[in-house]
Amino acid sequence: MSTFEEVFGTTPDGAWRAPGRVNLIGEHTDYNDGLVLPIALPNQISVTASAREDGIVAVSSNGQDAVVEFALDSLRPGSVTDWATYPAGMAWILRESGYPIGGANLFVDSDLPTGAGLSSSAALLCATGVALLGLRGIEVDPAEVARLAQKAENQYVGAPVGLMDQMASMCCTAGHALYFDIRAMSTTQIPFDPEADGLTLLVIDVKAPHRHVDGEYAARRKSCENAAELLGVPALRSIAFEELDAALAKLPEDVDRRRVRHVVTEIRRVEDAVALMHAGRLRDVGPLFTASHASLRDDFEITVPELDVAVDTALSAGALGARMTGGGFGGCIIALVETSEADKTFTAIEKAFADNGFRAPTSLAATPSAGASKLH
Ligand code: GLA
Repeated sequence: MSTFEEVFGTTPDGAWRAPGRVNLIGEHTDYNDGLVLPIALPNQISVTASAREDGIVAVSSNGQDAVVEFALDSLRPGSVTDWATYPAGMAWILRESGYPIGGANLFVDSDLPTGAGLSSSAALLCATGVALLGLRGIEVDPAEVARLAQKAENQYVGAPVGLMDQMASMCCTAGHALYFDIRAMSTTQIPFDPEADGLTLLVIDVKAPHRHVDGEYAARRKSCENAAELLGVPALRSIAFEELDAALAKLPEDVDRRRVRHVVTEIRRVEDAVALMHAGRLRDVGPLFTASHASLRDDFEITVPELDVAVDTALSAGALGARMTGGGFGGCIIALVETSEADKTFTAIEKAFADNGFRAPTSLAATPSAGASKLH
């Protein structure tokens, strides 16, 4: 454990935070110009910071011994590696985009698990962004910070991710899910308060070992882009649900048909979920979660045994619906359960994991929380 003062020997000018997220539904549609519905978690990354006038950014993190330093003027993709790639990438894109940020001491702290599919990368990029901008009093629209964070991840870190995680981290509000239409670039806050209905949204980290997530993510994205090209559309969002069968008939490869079917049906499930939430029929959203999981498992093929066992066990224990959330190949599931059944459901999953020889799962509170902000 260390503090900003211990590492940098000076007092900070302020502290900023950005949260992780879980997505309720709409997985892998963001880079197809689709629809997503994330909530921000109470878990977050904070960046305590002071300005410095020598054009150097020094980053340190609770739990890391070394301070990593880089000069703003000599930043280019590849110039900083390891975990500091994220703060460096954000500083780089802010400069590339013309924002007059300056040198800084940055101390990163987090209660957001990494590698659990809860968007710790996006939270680190966004927290760094709001800190570097905040130190210089530069006001930028939260959605623009999200877009810059995505560019940093795409162009500096080299991960071809969509825009969901960064938007969730910047634009979510407490007590709401963020209905984000990527094609329209529009957002709507949908009231989401399961407790008020006697329901709990369980988030369970299945602790699955890392399984080539980055390569598989890029491969799925490429398949979707190839299929869109074969179908002569700019993105799979352009295929209406009603046109799905006709579109599938034009694709010679079964694997392409299944990828397209996931994206088109998942977009429809997001629309249906939002309509049900507006109508106050939260319990009826459960079956859409379960159908989404089946689609991610069978058509998009991004689940692993831990995710499938967790979902199946939650459903057998009486969950109204359950699905994997995030990029896939590990990470977390969400399960919508009657609050009175929440403990029983988690215990059933723990037992199933022990019986299967999997690592012990953990659960997190899924209280819909606020996007990035200044802490003090
Ligand atoms: C990761 C990416 C997001 C999104 C999800 C899947 O979290 O960063 O852009 O594609 O996977 O829905």
